[in-house]
Amino acid sequence: MRDWKEHYQRHKDPGEPSGYLVYNETILDHFKNPRNIGEIEKPDGMALVGDPRCGDHIRLYLTIEGDKIVDIRYKVFGCAAAIATTSILTELVINKNLDDALAITDDDVIEAAGGIPARKAHCSLLGVVGLHTALAEYFLKKEKGKL
Ligand code: FES
Repeated sequence: MRDWKEHYQRHKDPGEPSGYLVYNETILDHFKNPRNIGEIEKPDGMALVGDPRCGDHIRLYLTIEGDKIVDIRYKVFGCAAAIATTSILTELVINKNLDDALAITDDDVIEAAGGIPARKAHCSLLGVVGLHTALAEYFLKKEKGKL
């Protein structure tokens, strides 16, 4: 189980004035123009995951060819950071092989985002958990010969 206090310390934003959220341009751009939004009709892997702390959730869909993720789509019910970080995650994942996709962490998403306000760091986990859960579903389907 993640230690949230330690996680927040690592991603502390010294420039964040107390009480206000300050998003950088990358986060704002992905929030306003989210990439790869949508659904895949017959996904190879799919996940519905939520953050029990805030109730936000995503549906994430994968198309996999060989050992490569060739398409990733999602729908989010959540905050600006959840929308933006999931969008950023899709750009990190597309055309990655499965091992590299499994190795992606929320820290990678935060780094690609150019940082995120400390108290919004947990939002970056939503897409990563969705990705890993969708990959687990894909592996299970494959093992059962359902693909
Ligand atoms: Fe719930 Fe951002 S506040 S994911």
